[in-house]
Amino acid sequence: MCGPTLRDRSPSVVFVVTRTPYDGAMTVISPKHFPTFRASLPSMADKTVVITGTTSGTGQIAARTVTELGAKVLVLNRTSERSTRSFAELTGAFPDADLHNVECDLQSFASVISAAEAVARLCPEGVDVLANNAGVMALADTATGDGFDVQMQTNHLSHFLLTRELMPLLERAAEGSGEARIVNHSSIARMSPSKTLVAKNLEKQGGHLGGDGSSLENLILRGPRWQRYNQSKLANAAFTAALHHKLTNAGSNVKALVAHPGLANTHLQQTSVNEGGMVGFFTNMFMRFAQSPEDGAMGLLSCMCLPDAQSGQFYGPGSGSNAFKGKAEPFALESFYDNIETRDLLWSKSEEAIGGEFSI
Ligand SMILES: NC(=O)c1ccc[n+]([C@@H]2O[C@H](COP(=O)([O-])OP(=O)(O)OC[C@H]3O[C@@H](n4cnc5c(N)ncnc54)[C@H](OP(=O)(O)O)[C@@H]3O)[C@@H](O)[C@H]2O)c1
Repeated sequence: MCGPTLRDRSPSVVFVVTRTPYDGAMTVISPKHFPTFRASLPSMADKTVVITGTTSGTGQIAARTVTELGAKVLVLNRTSERSTRSFAELTGAFPDADLHNVECDLQSFASVISAAEAVARLCPEGVDVLANNAGVMALADTATGDGFDVQMQTNHLSHFLLTRELMPLLERAAEGSGEARIVNHSSIARMSPSKTLVAKNLEKQGGHLGGDGSSLENLILRGPRWQRYNQSKLANAAFTAALHHKLTNAGSNVKALVAHPGLANTHLQQTSVNEGGMVGFFTNMFMRFAQSPEDGAMGLLSCMCLPDAQSGQFYGPGSGSNAFKGKAEPFALESFYDNIETRDLLWSKSEEAIGGEFSI
């Protein structure tokens, strides 16, 4: 990429900015709203919940909360020490709960298909809640083994495939209990910078989508890594809008909802710093404005659990671009992605990517 880099600045500034490690792991932000919110949640006994990305952050909080509320819970994670440890912590905290750790690497469509087959074997009763939570942010311009942008496949395309594969189980649960839910996890980033979904980001062009950006661009959360993240989070919202319209038109009792966590102090930023997409010095300052992972999980949990949550609703700490923290409130899907052109583009390009139809 062209443009100024940190190397153009004075050596002392460059040293401080580039060498300061991210201390997010040491920063403990206390939950502010979560205890009251948690007390308002209903029992989830007799519900089967499937959730991706529970090794840390909002997914870990959500998995723990619905387990505590009595649900049968399947956590879908790629194999790692983090996956083993977090599942051991969950089963250790709730030894009598009905918990299952299903291998699912969202960078691989084959892994997603295998995970969906495992879910079908484990859940003949159906699936009440599918929470498409997992995500990565500001990674380098690399292709997955399937050829897609690593952020778009992890954050959206694999969740699109997982949802298609689990739709019969969601419909089965909805027939039995009157409703089931698909919950996607978007971000404030859906609004940046253009609010327009661009087809190439959903195509097999991984590794050729703008490069990795300069140090300065990554310092100020701009540039191609961030554009690709923004597109994937816009795709999460557009997927929800498309699902909502298709399910409603089909008379289905499966709901489609979407959440955003504001700015939450999770492992997401650590991964970005490790991968060069954020600078430790700036991230330390920026994350002082974050809320706890518990408070960040309230939008996701609202969509998953609240009895009055409706299809086509968005839950988060506000709808604006500075909605960093606060109680999760519902708001309507927004016209910049809830329009025919964007919904059709999202659906057709996602079908093309997974190599097959997703009919509702
Ligand atoms: N934190 C925020 O401020 C913020 C803001 C807006 C939106 N969000 C969204 O919130 C969601 C949860 O993120 P978080 O903040 O809780 O971050 P996090 O702590 O990093 O959690 C992300 C989860 O996704 C999993 N994941 C990543 N790549 C995966 C893959 N290929 N296959 C399976 N799982 C994978 C991670 O597992 P591994 O251990 O395997 O990496 C981890 O469990 C994401 O969709 C993110 O975009 C977060």
